[in-house]
Amino acid sequence: MKTVFSGVQPSGNLTIGNYLGAIRNFVELQHDYACNFVVVDLHAITVPQDPAALREQSESVASLYVAVGVDPQKANIYMQSHVPQHAELGWLLTTLTSMGELERMTQFKDKSSGKESVGAGLFVYPSLMAADILLFNTDLVPVGEDQKQHLELARDIAGRFNHRYGEFFHIPEGYTPKVGARIMSLDDASKKMSKSNPNEGSRINMLDAPDVIRKKISRATTDSGKEVRYDPAAKPEVSNLISIYSEFSGLSIAEVEQRYEGQMYGPFKKELAEVVVSVLEPIQQRYHEIRKSGEIHEILRQGADRARETAERNLKLIYERMGFIPKA
Ligand code: TYM
Repeated sequence: MKTVFSGVQPSGNLTIGNYLGAIRNFVELQHDYACNFVVVDLHAITVPQDPAALREQSESVASLYVAVGVDPQKANIYMQSHVPQHAELGWLLTTLTSMGELERMTQFKDKSSGKESVGAGLFVYPSLMAADILLFNTDLVPVGEDQKQHLELARDIAGRFNHRYGEFFHIPEGYTPKVGARIMSLDDASKKMSKSNPNEGSRINMLDAPDVIRKKISRATTDSGKEVRYDPAAKPEVSNLISIYSEFSGLSIAEVEQRYEGQMYGPFKKELAEVVVSVLEPIQQRYHEIRKSGEIHEILRQGADRARETAERNLKLIYERMGFIPKA
């Protein structure tokens, strides 16, 4: 069976960008692949995190995986820090990564720009991400568009290892949705929707109450025109809303345009809010049940136990290839 790996950072409330770009796809992939869906807490601390908030967000992300429909019996759901082989392989792969490659990463440039002090962890973040993926000899990585550059680096590192130490790693492929791969901010369609944007109105969180969702969509920026038409260059904000509508409703972009032909933004936005609420509300209900039951701790324990077995086996082989003396 081929392997899937993906991770989400517990660095804030998950948005519909995270949902459409990645998490929603976890559910369909779990039937045909050996899956690892991980809460990457070691990545989250590459920028400062409040310990209590980190704990809460970690539990929240893991519970959301289950609430959207990831089956903990089919897929391994676990905390990255509970499988120490991630950090170990992270170090090994950091030694195979060049400074130049890391300097070229746009996420690093964005997150470090204008900062007085930048953590070294933020710089080597992509080698740890490569380790996440390669630890399981992953074939497929469901991610949004913004992670493509990191995935490309993981592919390069895998190839470099194979070249130096003999064929070992599969070269992982990305799995990116056509429309939902890059959901933009509601207040500025030149920026991606992000859980770390200080402006709450820029995003819809997966756990926003229905009325909050309605309010945020009604206030979303639009151009001064009238037509509900998909044209990312001329009408980036409206096009982003059409993409969200299409992804949540299952209608094609053309079908959404047709439905609102000759209508103004008002009715379109109103119905968009209802489409989003109708998908998120049942997820939120399941989420609250899961949180209340406390079952997530056992799910995380079992997921980590299973993942650790594979991780230990693979890491031992990697150490051997690199010339380390095996433990007696
Ligand atoms: P993170 O936590 O920023 O985001 C989680 C996933 O959501 C996708 N995403 C989006 N998709 C569409 N539109 C958006 N506006 C949007 N915002 C976020 C991201 O592409 C991602 O798939 N480095 C990763 C976490 C990670 C990882 C991994 C992913 C660590 N190790 C190994 C895959 C495999 C990150 O920061 O994702």
